[in-house]
Amino acid sequence: MKVTTVSTSISEVDADGVGIGIFEDLSSNDYSGDLSKYLEVSGFKGKQGELKILYSVEDISCPRVALVGLGKKKKDTLETARTAAGKSVKALRKDGAKRVAIPDFGNAQGAAEGAILGNYRFDELMTMNPEKRPELTEIVYCGSDEEGWKKGKIIADSQNFARRLGELPSNIATPTFFTEETKKQFEGLSNVKISVYDEDWAREQKMGAFLSVAKGSHEPAKFMVIEYSGGNSDEKPYAVVGKGITFDSGGISLKSSGGMGAMRGDCSGAAAAIGTLFGIARLGLPINAVGVTPLTENMPGGSATKPADVVFASNGKSIEVDNTDAEGRMILSDGLVYTEKTYDPHTIVDIATLTGAMAVALGEYYIGAFTRSDELWGQLDTSGKNANERFWRMPVDDRYKKQLKSSLADLKNVGGRPAGSITAAMFLSEFVERNRWVHLDIAGSAWPSSEGAYTPKGNVGVPVRALIDLATTFVK
Ligand code: BES
Ligand code: MN
Ligand code: ZN
Repeated sequence: MKVTTVSTSISEVDADGVGIGIFEDLSSNDYSGDLSKYLEVSGFKGKQGELKILYSVEDISCPRVALVGLGKKKKDTLETARTAAGKSVKALRKDGAKRVAIPDFGNAQGAAEGAILGNYRFDELMTMNPEKRPELTEIVYCGSDEEGWKKGKIIADSQNFARRLGELPSNIATPTFFTEETKKQFEGLSNVKISVYDEDWAREQKMGAFLSVAKGSHEPAKFMVIEYSGGNSDEKPYAVVGKGITFDSGGISLKSSGGMGAMRGDCSGAAAAIGTLFGIARLGLPINAVGVTPLTENMPGGSATKPADVVFASNGKSIEVDNTDAEGRMILSDGLVYTEKTYDPHTIVDIATLTGAMAVALGEYYIGAFTRSDELWGQLDTSGKNANERFWRMPVDDRYKKQLKSSLADLKNVGGRPAGSITAAMFLSEFVERNRWVHLDIAGSAWPSSEGAYTPKGNVGVPVRALIDLATTFVK
């Protein structure tokens, strides 16, 4: 599918489907002609979320017009445009259009994000009945803010890449596959260096926590680092660390079989970290950034870690593995230690599908954000609102640490039922020193229950948009 831009007006654009946004007062920023008779006959009110397809509209050369309601004026223009573009693309594609024209809908960046995110569908493993999955050949931008459109396209491409990595099943998306797809994706981008380390390297680094998870699987674990240098060499990087469990069976503390397939998505944090770095590099942001992803399966093989085993993380702390299903915090602990000591980052963000308790607490609409830094929280909150990937601040409070007391080691890896997401964050806090660190638990939000205007069924690639926004507005 191509994405192009043209400088013609909506009424003359060479396409077989076009979107037009209509406000509740029945005005439109996208089309200056008179649509009143069509609006009247079809009963279109311009309400947010409303959609109608019209055919053969006078003065518009395009055979199909998707009217999209934008609601009242002066709403969040980014999100209004995202929703309108996503809805137009989905509806016109379903209706048989191949070449779809998209106007600004009030915000070119939002329009590009909505159109390209809305057109995403994970069907690469399906071979039968392609006629049931109509595809676009081209999305044509019909507006004047090419910069904004280009930015939105890059952000959407980055998030779609994360969605795909998160959605692919684990027999295909192994740790090795992750590293190869990432290298392919970043090919040709300047200022990027990708390093892929193996288990021997991790042993040299004394990453006993990461390796304790990898032990139960035959699939080789990988530790991947993406470095982007867009700033001066003395500037501290923005670091993003992602949980990359390509399949979480629970290990010896085996999960029950119902719904276990969803745990192919337990690498969504790593996928989002990679997507974020990709966006930063493609936008050529004037900062340094690093993406760190420990990648492994969590399996109950013959040499798997067993409950009450004690391992040593790379900062020397000993951990009693009380539950092998609390594996995310194990691999992140070594990921965080490595990131902090190697890069001395300005800010560290970690992303993980870490706890089922997060989904219980916040459901799918908010990502739990754990940080001690009020400043970082404020910035993240703003970025979350810009991107419409919302965060909710959760406590980081040392009193919860007592739940992690072990009779064998410095700490154990689970803290019991109460405050399960918070004790997981407290565990991670044992492996980070700086204040500007935020832990994002996306367990509830990575794969919402239903499709949205520009989100697919399945993995949605959160919070790539917000983290690119944070990097963009980043205070050095
Ligand atoms: N990957 C899971 C968390 C998860 C559960 C994500 C459901 C998305 C949906 C994580 O590794 C896990 O198994 N966590 C355990 C922790 C427990 C053993 C303390 C959990 O949440 O049950
Ligand atoms: Mn688990
Ligand atoms: Zn997990």
